[in-house]
Amino acid sequence: PERLTTRTLQKRRDKGGSISMLTAYDYPTAKVLDEAGIDVLLVGDSLAMVVQGHSTTLPVTMDQMIYHAEMVGRAAERALVVVDLPFPEGQLEIGRSIRSAARVLKETQCHAVKLEGGAEQAARIDAMVTAGIPVMAHVGLRPQNVNVDGGYRVQRDQEALVADAVAAEQAGAFAVLIECVPELVTKAIHDAIRVPTIGIGAGGNTTGQVLVTHDLIGLTAGYTPKFVRKMASVAEIVRDTAASFHQAVADGSFPGPDETFR
Ligand code: KIV
Ligand code: NA
Repeated sequence: PERLTTRTLQKRRDKGGSISMLTAYDYPTAKVLDEAGIDVLLVGDSLAMVVQGHSTTLPVTMDQMIYHAEMVGRAAERALVVVDLPFPEGQLEIGRSIRSAARVLKETQCHAVKLEGGAEQAARIDAMVTAGIPVMAHVGLRPQNVNVDGGYRVQRDQEALVADAVAAEQAGAFAVLIECVPELVTKAIHDAIRVPTIGIGAGGNTTGQVLVTHDLIGLTAGYTPKFVRKMASVAEIVRDTAASFHQAVADGSFPGPDETFR
């Protein structure tokens, strides 16, 4: 299959097309999502919560992000693969951010990084793009800021959000992700820039949509946000299958003759 690039995504926006994006953290899942035609795979720092079981995205390290990015990059043949810069790699000296982001391109087969923040990140985005590292900006709700914000809240400051997106675009970001923003504010952001927008909890006025795969397929424990559409119940399937295996071992029906060497 032909590889999607930042140019492909721009063409989608220019021609009124759409972009599908899902998180991936491991080889088999990434392979299935890639085969399904998902355009962009995100090795999100949400893996801290979804895979590692933490209550925020803050604990995951750069080395751990690289470990997961290796697996996803190896699996994806068609999708563009974006890797989150984990806290606080996108907040330290710009040189260090470039060095960390460059690891994604040097050590994995992934293609771009995502960085939380807008206007205040313009100089960093510009330096990264100048260094040859494609950057997706992430505005609106910024999970890495949870301790300053005092929780996860819908972001409604239209003027500031538009300024963030415009600054990110001017700095060279190839796309802007918009998280937890009312749909009319999203529309204002989308209309203020020309690069593709990808929303999560941001309504339909974007070029693309992203969800955490484990939320989409019903493999997440606990609270599900309002903006999630749970389209399958994989946890139930796995639980039922494991219970069937347990029972088959207990009653001696596994292994059967066909599953046994003679
Ligand atoms: O880490 C992540 O999964 C994300 C998405 C929620 C956009 O950044
Ligand atoms: Na993230």
